[in-house]
This record gives sequence, C-alpha cells and structure tokens, in this order.
Amino acid sequence: MSGFFVVFEGGDGVGKTTQIELLARALRAGGREVVETREPGGTELGRELRQAIMHGGHVAPRAEALLYAADRAHHIATKVRPALERGAAVVQDRYIDSSVVYQGGARGLGDEVARVSEWATEGLVPDLTVLLDMESVPERLARELDRVERETGGDRALIRESFLALASREPERYAVVDASQSVDDVAADVRVAVDSALTKVGLAGLPAAHAGVEPWGTP
Ligand code: TYD
Repeated sequence: MSGFFVVFEGGDGVGKTTQIELLARALRAGGREVVETREPGGTELGRELRQAIMHGGHVAPRAEALLYAADRAHHIATKVRPALERGAAVVQDRYIDSSVVYQGGARGLGDEVARVSEWATEGLVPDLTVLLDMESVPERLARELDRVERETGGDRALIRESFLALASREPERYAVVDASQSVDDVAADVRVAVDSALTKVGLAGLPAAHAGVEPWGTP
C-alpha cells in the first residue's frame, strides 16, 4: 500500500477534530489526496451504527464492543483500504486503541477486544498514531455527553493512563503530544511527528511551513 495512515487518539475533548483539520490542510498543501474520517461513523452504515451505539438506549457491553468492531470492519474495508491503495493519506479520528481503552478497560472486557478489532480490520496497523494527551479537560469543553462518554468517561485519569500505556508499548509508532499547549503549538508537534513518519515510510515530508503568522496558510 502506497498511502499513509495516521490515527488520532485521546480522551474526549482533547482537540482531535481541530488538529485533524489542521493536519489534513498541511498534507493537502503538499499535493496529496487526503481522506479525513472517523470511527464510529465514517461510512453510511457507520453513521447508523454510531447513532445506535451512542444515542440509543442501553447496549450490553459485548454488543457495544461488536458494534464498534462492525463499524470498523466496514469502514476499513470500504473506505480506508481503498484510499490507501490509491496512495491517499488517511487522517482518522479514533481506531482500535479506543476500543481497547473504553471497551477493554473502562467496560472491563479485557484484551480480547483488541483481537476482535484485529480480525475485523485484517490487521491494518496505522503508520503513526498521534496520542493527544491532556491531564484534564478544561471546563469550557464540557458539553452534552453521549451515552458512551457518560458511562465510561467518568474516570478520565484511568482512560488517560490506558492510552499512555498503549503508546509506551510501541514508541516508534506513536507520538504522544501535550494537548494542553496552544492549538498552534500542538499542531507544530503533530507536524514534526507526521513529517518524520512520512519519511520513515519513504514518502515525501510535509511542505515547509511559512515562517510567521499562520503556519497552515489561510483556510
Ligand atoms: P468521538 O467520535 O471522538 O466523540 P465526539 O465526536 O462526540 O467527541 O467518539 C465517540 C465515543 O465513542 C467516545 O466517547 C469514545 C467512544 N468509542 C469507544 O468507546 N470505542 C471505540 O472503539 C471508539 C472508536 C469510540
């Protein structure tokens, strides 16, 4: 596969959406096709599953894990792999680590959750996982929580530790970025990590940022 697969992980409210947009813009400036996507909900079927998982009534924990895995299986097979095969960069909001942390850890389902997702994706591993790490999410980001956030997000410290533990197992494939910095400083750290990961897989790095005001250019 000639494309580049980068995933953003982290707790709720750490700024994944903003950073994904900024990175996508920088990759596009280098002339690449970029696919911005997310789990759950990156496909039409995925949007239905997202609705069922996050905004419906009670879902048994194992059913919840399988619904995330079903979303993932369809998303990877029909959207992500085809994009990587035609050489695109895929910038994705959440992947297997979220299942390991929320269903495996917070829901207590354990390591089998990772194996279910590996089966679902036929073992697709990101070139780089950016973990946006933040000790606590500012009050201003507090908002209406979905069911999964309400039920599993309570122990933010545990969720943070679980993500950090996954990153420390494979430091060469992860970039842990301090998400409590300003948006521009987080973006600069992400950029350095992506640039080095692109080079590592033999692709051209990101175009040089212009010195001064807006490193990402005008939207
Ligand atoms: P996300 O799309 O990041 O939520 P939002 O856009 O509202 O910030 O994630 C959706 C929720 O689903 C979030 O609470 C984390 C949870 N989640 C899991 O529990 N397991 C998974 O495998 C994934 C992908 C997400």
